[in-house]
Amino acid sequence: MTEILAITNLVKTFSQPGGGALTVLNIPSLKVAVGEQVALIGKSGGGKTTLLHLIAGLLVPDEGSIRIAKTEITRLSEQGRDRFRAGSIGYVFQTFNLMPAFTALENVKLGMTFGSGRRDSSRAGDLLERVGLADRAHYRPAQLSVGQQQRVAIARALAGSPKILLADEPTANVDPVSAENVLELIRNTCREEQVAMLMVTHDMEIASRFDRVEELDTINLALTGSHPD
Ligand SMILES: Nc1ncnc2c1ncn2[C@@H]1O[C@H](COP(=O)(O)OP(=O)(O)OP(=O)(O)O)[C@@H](O)[C@H]1O
Ligand SMILES: [Mg+2]
Repeated sequence: MTEILAITNLVKTFSQPGGGALTVLNIPSLKVAVGEQVALIGKSGGGKTTLLHLIAGLLVPDEGSIRIAKTEITRLSEQGRDRFRAGSIGYVFQTFNLMPAFTALENVKLGMTFGSGRRDSSRAGDLLERVGLADRAHYRPAQLSVGQQQRVAIARALAGSPKILLADEPTANVDPVSAENVLELIRNTCREEQVAMLMVTHDMEIASRFDRVEELDTINLALTGSHPD
């Protein structure tokens, strides 16, 4: 397969508030193919968010390799990682992280400020239309429902034409009907744009619809103090 993401011998250790260190991740291998949609499941505290942050270059590992397309991101400087993230990675946070002072349209445009995709602002408008919010383009986040905010966050994550979309339980804060719509929206848009996706979910029914399910507890050799949900 042609890989968009290849992780090898990844180790991440945190120093603990009470002293000492905790190895959260020790992953010998994880690969995602171009355009592939992978669900990531695992117990709370198991290191799912930490893994996404490492892939996005928001954290650096202690050991190991993270290759996205042809770039070994662990060799980049912090500034290099920021630039790479803006151009190649879409990130949908569990809590959206929209900029409150900006409208929906402006928030989507922020996603393409450094992106490699088309920089014309018509793409921001197109994406808002795709997520069903053409009529809310000039609303600020506080003037949108939670589900609508999440749809803006998805449009923003895709605005820079990323190679891979990382999504951290993007449906956790919306009602079941909105969750279903948000999920199908992300999956269809990624499919249309051939964007690979790695999505954290706690919902096995949702996970089972993906191309592949990765269980972190299986691929991670680190023994953490995590507890079952
Ligand atoms: N900055 C940090 N310093 C110390 N420990 C940390 C830090 N960030 C995360 N951890 C620890 O790493 C472990 C994994 O956290 P992480 O947020 O990745 O879990 P998760 O799988 O995303 O859990 P959840 O499903 O609850 O979101 C936890 O035990 C957490 O306490
Ligand atoms: Mg998490």
